[in-house]
Amino acid sequence: MHFFVKVRPLNLFMRLPVFFGGVSLQQKFKKVIIQMKTAIFYSSSHGTTAKVAELLAQKMTNSQTQIFNLKKLKNADLTIFDTIIIGGSVHAGNIQSSVRKFCSKNMVELLNKRLALYLCCMNEPEFDVQFEHAFPELLRKKAVSSKIIGGEFLFGKMNFFEKAIVKKVSKVNGTVSKIDYSKIDEMAKELEVVTISGI
Ligand SMILES: Cc1cc2nc3c(=O)[nH]c(=O)nc-3n(C[C@H](O)[C@H](O)[C@H](O)COP(=O)(O)O)c2cc1C
Repeated sequence: MHFFVKVRPLNLFMRLPVFFGGVSLQQKFKKVIIQMKTAIFYSSSHGTTAKVAELLAQKMTNSQTQIFNLKKLKNADLTIFDTIIIGGSVHAGNIQSSVRKFCSKNMVELLNKRLALYLCCMNEPEFDVQFEHAFPELLRKKAVSSKIIGGEFLFGKMNFFEKAIVKKVSKVNGTVSKIDYSKIDEMAKELEVVTISGI
């Protein structure tokens, strides 16, 4: 199983009970971590951020993962989740307002969770600036994993005005997919690694 536990200070101590016929503390912690619960809260305009949420959930094999669409969700109960992943996409320079509202409404609780953030967008020179603009600084600092995943121009799902904007601004005339799947793998891996410190 691809699973890593970094136990810093007393690694040896945690393995010691095995020599006396018991279960090591490390194994006990693995058991606890395997039962960890993850929630992915996302907002998506044409489906790309939703697709990324699904792929992430599939890759997070050591966690029970639930996915929530922020555009349909009225009240979020974060209490049962250990890890929260928030995803959104950029349209005309901004992330969805449902993501902004979710972040500000649940700020205190989010700061007490293991947090990860991802953003779908297509304007590569602006990737970092858009990420900074999309998520509040406190959450960006708190996040154990942050990824800019790229995105897609799905012409079949755009209305007349969206097509016109994309054609003019991005000089693109048809569907383009530029999802960086390696970033999804990286996030899933980074969230598998749990550092237990201070034991
Ligand atoms: C009308 C429109 C405006 C967009 N504006 C931006 C933008 O300002 N910056 C950017 O990086 N990407 C922009 N994009 C690209 C989207 O971020 C990309 O299509 C993303 O994959 C959308 O994900 P979603 O379908 O989950 O909303 C825009 C796309 C559309 C259709």
